[in-house]
Amino acid sequence: MGLEVDPAFVQAAEHRPKPTISDAGEIPLIDLSPLLHHPIPSDPSDPSIPDEISSLIAAIGAACLDWGFFQVVNHGVDLKLLERVQAVAREFFALPAEEKRRVKRDEVNALGYYDTEHTKNVRDWKEVFDLVVREYESDDGSFRLRNQWPDHPPAMREACEEYIASVEKLAYKLVELIALSLNLPAKRLNGYFRDSSCFFRINHYNPCPSPDLVLGVGRHKDSGALTVLAQDEVGGLDVKRKSDGEWVRVKPIPNSYIINVGDIIQVWSNDKYESVEHRASVNTEKERFSIPFFFSPTFSTNVKPLEELVSDDKNPARYQEYNWGHYFSSRLSSNFKKLDKDNLQISHFKKAL
Ligand code: OGA
Ligand code: NI
Repeated sequence: MGLEVDPAFVQAAEHRPKPTISDAGEIPLIDLSPLLHHPIPSDPSDPSIPDEISSLIAAIGAACLDWGFFQVVNHGVDLKLLERVQAVAREFFALPAEEKRRVKRDEVNALGYYDTEHTKNVRDWKEVFDLVVREYESDDGSFRLRNQWPDHPPAMREACEEYIASVEKLAYKLVELIALSLNLPAKRLNGYFRDSSCFFRINHYNPCPSPDLVLGVGRHKDSGALTVLAQDEVGGLDVKRKSDGEWVRVKPIPNSYIINVGDIIQVWSNDKYESVEHRASVNTEKERFSIPFFFSPTFSTNVKPLEELVSDDKNPARYQEYNWGHYFSSRLSSNFKKLDKDNLQISHFKKAL
C-alpha cells in the first residue's frame, strides 16, 4: 500500500462524521488478579463466593452494561506469547507486497492476507492477516476457511497457535464471568463454544498522511460473542460511549487486553449487554498493529435470546433465531465482494414487539 491517499478513500471518508475524540471518561479497567487466588464459582447464588470474586463479577456486569467495553490486567496470558506474535507480524507485514499476496484470501477461502487495495475496499486503511483455530468448508464448497501460512517468517504458525491457545482460555474465563453477571451458571454458555469458530486477526495500519480523512477501520460492531484485543502502544481505537455517543480513545495500557461484547452476547442477553460501535484511527507517523481474537460459537449454533433471560410478559425475546454459520459466511463474503452493499446485521432479526 502506497502512502498517497487515493481520492476514493477521501470520497468514502466524506460520508463519515468528523472524528471527535473525548479523553474524559475512559472504558473501565478491571483487574483479574482475584482469579489467580480463587476458582470461578459455578453457581451465581452460592453464598460462599469470596467478596473479591463477587466484586469482580459485578464490575464486569457494570462494564458490559455501561460500555460494552473494558480493559483487563493480570489476565494470565504470558506477555512473551504476545510479543512473539507481534514480532512475526512485524516481519510478515514488512515483506514485499508480492510475497504477502502469495497467501491472499480469495472469493472462496476467506483466510490469509488482504490489503485494502486488492479487495478494493476503499473504506479502510489497513492490511490484515486472518486465521482460524478450526478450519471449515461449507457443504457446497462455496465457502472455505482454510489457513494459509506464509513461508516467512517460519515461526509465524507456532507463534500464532500458542498465543491463541492461551487467549482462548482467557476468553472462556470472561464468558463465564459474564454468564455469572447475568445470574446464570458460570458454564451456561460454554457448550456453544465447543468446536467454536474462533477467528484470529492481525491488523496492520500503515502511517497515513491524512489521518483526518481516513480511518484504519470504519465504525462497526463485532459480530461474534466476545473480542479480546491486544493493541500496541501507538493507540487509535475509539469506542462510542453509550452515555452520550462521543468517541472515546482507548488509552494503551502495557500488558492489557481490551474486551468487548459482540452482537451474539447482545442477542443472548436480549439487549441487556449491547455490542458497541468502535473504529480505529490512523497515525501520521507511526504504523500500528492490533491483534483481535474473536471468540465465537460453533457454526451450527442458532443464536437467540437465552430462555432464562426472557419472559413472555415482562421481557419478551427481541430477536428471532439466526444461524451463526450462515450469518458469518454471508458477512465475510459480502465484505469481500461488494463493499457498499449492506452486511447482514442482527437488527435484521429483530422482532417487531
Ligand atoms: C476489529 C477492530 C480495532 C483496532 O478488528 O474488529 O475493531 O484497534 N479493530 O484495530
Ligand atoms: Ni472490531
